[in-house]
Amino acid sequence: KRTEIRQLYRETPADGAVVTVCGWARTVRDSKNIGFIELSDGGCFKPLQIVFEAAKLDNYREIAKAGVGTSLQVTGRVVLTPGAKQPFEVNADEIRVLGVCGPEYPLQKKRHTVEFLRTMPHLRPRTNTFAAAFRVRSVAAYAIHKFFQENGFVYAHTPLITGSDCEGAGEMFRVTTLDLDNVPRTEDGTVDFSQDFFGRSTNLTVSGQLEAEAMATAFGKVYTFGPTFRAENSNTPRHAAEFWMIEPEIAFADLADDMDLAEAMVKSVIAYVLEQCPAELAFFNQFFDKGLLERLNALVNSEFVRVSYTEAVELLKAHNDQFQYKVDWGTDLQTEHERYLTEQIYKKPVFVTDYPKEIKSFYMRLNDDGKTVAAADMLVPGVGELIGGSQREERLDVLEARMAELGLGKEDYEWYLDLRRFGSVEHAGFGLGFERLIMYLTGIPNIRDVIPFPRTAGGF
Ligand code: 4AD
Ligand code: MG
Repeated sequence: KRTEIRQLYRETPADGAVVTVCGWARTVRDSKNIGFIELSDGGCFKPLQIVFEAAKLDNYREIAKAGVGTSLQVTGRVVLTPGAKQPFEVNADEIRVLGVCGPEYPLQKKRHTVEFLRTMPHLRPRTNTFAAAFRVRSVAAYAIHKFFQENGFVYAHTPLITGSDCEGAGEMFRVTTLDLDNVPRTEDGTVDFSQDFFGRSTNLTVSGQLEAEAMATAFGKVYTFGPTFRAENSNTPRHAAEFWMIEPEIAFADLADDMDLAEAMVKSVIAYVLEQCPAELAFFNQFFDKGLLERLNALVNSEFVRVSYTEAVELLKAHNDQFQYKVDWGTDLQTEHERYLTEQIYKKPVFVTDYPKEIKSFYMRLNDDGKTVAAADMLVPGVGELIGGSQREERLDVLEARMAELGLGKEDYEWYLDLRRFGSVEHAGFGLGFERLIMYLTGIPNIRDVIPFPRTAGGF
């Protein structure tokens, strides 16, 4: 019967215990009549050391010549090794080769650049860096569900195929069954979607927020956690065409409640990953970002900054000589400004609130000044915008006026307006980009390296 390596590390076995383990060789060293294998079965970050001896194995030469990546089944005896690098090793009585792996295997022992590894997304999870990144990703996803479930939120599944454009930026992937070589047209020459599978123009969702609002006006507190799609042609280290977003939506809540929730959630997820992934985070701290552990630990007990857009612009304007894009009231903050605020001025996460309505989405609640909306973006060092959120416009007349101003077709949003017609309440929510959270948690500087199979501008 096979024992998982993580099980061995969890319950240090007795000296002399006989075990069978399976895994892939990370390294194989041979010094004539004794050899060493670092064996990983993927279940934990740390490999298991296997010792094998010519005196005990008929197939010693075959094993000694096995390449990195060979899959093996090993039966042997546990030998406790106090004082050594690992607490115990396994001395093999029998080793069976399950699958050979030859010298043409691209992941030989030497260190590879992440750019090189990006060309083989199907193999890179076998390396330390990506094994650590994707395990942190899995644990962080669980931490997010745990946080919301323990706080009474309902997990809401929102559609991926939709007719609306939540962010109003027109950055959508079309979904159609029409034959693109022979598109049917109406008399006035526009595309005739009535012949499409859906009978209307549809796209992949950029955000589940609008549907999350509908669910929140039934359940009070909900969250989504699913893929979203943006056809923005941004070839940057922080933009993906397909990324995962977490979108909580809370009723009877204003912008301050929304920021409280965002801050509590981020801290809770960081604390959980610190607790569950010590080996992975230690690895990133050593190889990617020397200050990572100190920063994450400090963050859990710190208070995030809250500053209005107007104040932030005043602060930034004083440094305009350092920016490629000059800041002025009314302009959107660029990554260079977001990073300056969090890395130079405050050195921790910052909520920037109350942006000019012109640079934000139609659904955000208009402030009393008539110029700004109740929005709050959370910016973090190293990444920039991690969260975009707002209090929603719950007043039917104000929302209708804003939509008319922006030329949004009312027929597409009647159901959304119903939420304001039938028992409307103050409500708020936010969207957290999951990949950016993983970048923040690991110090990995490129979004392409925190999602197993990235889809970014420029293809895949
Ligand atoms: O700021 P955004 O566009 O906000 C919304 O979509 C709202 N509907 C959310 C809400 O209030 N429910 O996106 C939210 C977050 C950003 O802060 C960023 O972290 C991430 O999603 N994001 C991206 N991540 C990776 N690649 C992209 N192209 C991203 N665009 C946004
Ligand atoms: Mg945003």
